[in-house]
Amino acid sequence: DKDVFKYYADGEWRVSASGKSVTITNPSTRQPQYKVQACTQEEVNKALESAKAAQKLWAKVPLWKRAEALHKAAAILKQHKDPIAKCLVKEIAKPAKDAVSEVVRSGDLISYCAEEGVRILSEGKLLVSDSFPGNDRNKLCLASKIPLGVVLCIPPFNYPVNLAVSKIAPALIAGNSVVLKPPTQGAVAGLHMVHCFHEAGFPKGLISCITGKGSEIGDFLTMHPGVNCISFTGGDTGIAISKKAGMVPLQMELGGKDACIVLEDADLDLVAANVIKGGFSYSGQRCTAVKVILVMESVADALVERVNAKVSKLKVGAPEDDCDITAVVSESSAKFIEGLVMDAKEKGATFCQEYKREGNLIWPLLLDHVRPDMRIAWEEPFGPVLPVIRINSIEEGIHHCNASNFALQGCVFTRDINKAIMISDAMETGTVQINSAPARGPDHFPFQGLRDSGIGSQGITNSINMMTKVKSTVINLP
Ligand code: G3H
Repeated sequence: DKDVFKYYADGEWRVSASGKSVTITNPSTRQPQYKVQACTQEEVNKALESAKAAQKLWAKVPLWKRAEALHKAAAILKQHKDPIAKCLVKEIAKPAKDAVSEVVRSGDLISYCAEEGVRILSEGKLLVSDSFPGNDRNKLCLASKIPLGVVLCIPPFNYPVNLAVSKIAPALIAGNSVVLKPPTQGAVAGLHMVHCFHEAGFPKGLISCITGKGSEIGDFLTMHPGVNCISFTGGDTGIAISKKAGMVPLQMELGGKDACIVLEDADLDLVAANVIKGGFSYSGQRCTAVKVILVMESVADALVERVNAKVSKLKVGAPEDDCDITAVVSESSAKFIEGLVMDAKEKGATFCQEYKREGNLIWPLLLDHVRPDMRIAWEEPFGPVLPVIRINSIEEGIHHCNASNFALQGCVFTRDINKAIMISDAMETGTVQINSAPARGPDHFPFQGLRDSGIGSQGITNSINMMTKVKSTVINLP
């Protein structure tokens, strides 16, 4: 079938021997949009074999040349931002402008990785022995960073390009090879992005992109002995992967329930603007979205009023028209979100807007007076529905935040910097933003989740370091 996008392995675009394909449904129209190859386990084996062979050679390519190749890929990616963004619009209903930004940000990320890699990977360490009791100064240890081998990269549907390159670029600059398993929704954008690396002239086998059904190749990939590192972003699947994976380093980011704590002295216009951006951009389908507002009772009415005024201005509709709120990624996602809304309704939450859904399109909704017995107080909707919990003390807000399984980011709004720091210290999350909505970027900042939100730390520098291991050579003097 000539309509099925080919997968990429050993430097070539290929048709799977399975003869089967996976259909990508357009979230807005709910009609089939694209088809990709359903790769077999045998094809996974082959891709991993060539990744292993290519990595051995790549590790010997001078660092400055690896950086040069990455800069080239970044430039090609940026040149092709429009066709790639168009795929994002069709496959994941990302608003048109955000789709372009995702690709541009990805190009910038690749270049920054190349530059950062050149600096940090050029540094090693020299240790001398006589600091440890019983030793003379007769041993010198030269410690340097070497690559891990083959890095398996599994990005999620919400950033199929950006969260792919945030794994691929650090892996490559550090001398690793890469096997990419793109999300089904977003696979075609992922294949186009890989094509930019192909055009940049990376060696055969160094990068491959294996599409297919998770049920057929998911566990097979993550449990494969040829994989030396897994970098995963997504949902609960990550917890299952961490239980099954072998003795390989894991980097995982698995969602969040980022809280927005609002104190009495907060600038409420600033809070409202950040709640809209943080809670509703890409229809709430970001792991770093604001997912619960914890506001002091005395300012709650004023805040809810301001947020409602802004919610009413959000444009709901097609991603092609660059609407703010677009269809959520799938019907099962829409149903899950609806389940949370109905549970909140039964338990007495106040609906600030009328609940409305057409197919996968859900209108933005603020739920006030949410209480801890409601599912939406704890669960991650990944949709344009945002709960407000009114609190009577800062401790109550911190307690809610720390009682969550998730611990990615959080934010606090106050004009009192001392209180802000105190609250940041008390919030057990990977990052706390003071007076702004949570966000991963700028992409060189450390990015990490605690508890069920992840393992390890990302961000350009941390990812490069994570994708290396330390090798020591000890010189023993007579
Ligand atoms: O969805 C998870 C992403 O890592 C969030 O990135 O804060 O740039 O939207 P973002």
